[in-house]
Amino acid sequence: HIENLECATLELEVRDAVLTVRVHRPEALNALSPEVIAELREVFDLLRSLGRADAVGDPDWSIRGVILTGSGGRAFVAGADITRMRDMSREEVRAYTRDAQELTVWIETLPVPVVAAVNGFALGGGCELAMACDMIYASENAAFGQPEVALGLIPGFGGCVRLQQYVGIAAARELILTGRRIPAEEAQRIGLVSRVLPDTGALMGAARESIALVAAQSPTAVAAAKRAIRAAQALPTDAGLQIELEAFADRFGTPDMTEGTAAFVEKRTPRFPGL
Ligand code: CAA
Repeated sequence: HIENLECATLELEVRDAVLTVRVHRPEALNALSPEVIAELREVFDLLRSLGRADAVGDPDWSIRGVILTGSGGRAFVAGADITRMRDMSREEVRAYTRDAQELTVWIETLPVPVVAAVNGFALGGGCELAMACDMIYASENAAFGQPEVALGLIPGFGGCVRLQQYVGIAAARELILTGRRIPAEEAQRIGLVSRVLPDTGALMGAARESIALVAAQSPTAVAAAKRAIRAAQALPTDAGLQIELEAFADRFGTPDMTEGTAAFVEKRTPRFPGL
């Protein structure tokens, strides 16, 4: 049962079928030490089984969405842990980075929605972790950036790849090369952030509302849409359209599609079997 996992660096809470994962390292603005990465991997690896039919009946099966956030109110995640990283050998840093990159893929490919609720600094690896989520919501005091060049580094947890997907090549180059930190409002203007909320309470409320909205849809369609969007990102237009065509056609005849379209015709709320 996910909620009862023993974690030293994460706070886990399940309420109304939503799992909140709070990175909790008050001494380092929630920086991603190897332990944080290992614990996040443990949580998201368990969550990956949600999409499998053989996991029906598992107590975690009822989880309909995940909110990823930071504890303490000052930071979402201030990046990879610089103090820990500087002593690593190339081999060690390769393993650490591979683990973190794989975690971002697990988040991105989860069948349920993941909302990053950014309530402070989302820098370096923190911004990269947020970008793996389906939506980034931010409080007004949030700040985003990829400051790695100031450390003689470059983004390593997907920043060189995903930032340009979010904001386009011009803004991505500018942000990565200058290392400039931007406030939530600017992050929203350039397309990194979907919504800005006045404070942490409103932020968490909005994240819950969005997950509830998604949870009212067909879960198999949501998972299929996530897969198709991700697959299309890596492909040229024509190949992407082909993926979409197949995934769209695969919906036909599924119990969820039968129920969703029947409910529309009968002017009632659908009750999706999730199949
Ligand atoms: N790693 C380790 N420790 C960190 C940290 C990090 N990324 N960010 C903050 N901390 C620690 C600080 O060292 C400090 O510890 P002490 O109290 O023991 O000195 C504590 O958290 C509080 O931080 P500050 O005193 O610096 O707080 P501030 O308000 O003055 O500044 C900040 C806040 C601007 C976020 C500043 O802490 C900062 O610049 N942090 C580093 C941000 C960064 O460069 N992130 C990228 C990391 S590299 C990376 O992520 C690579 C990758 O892509 C994978």
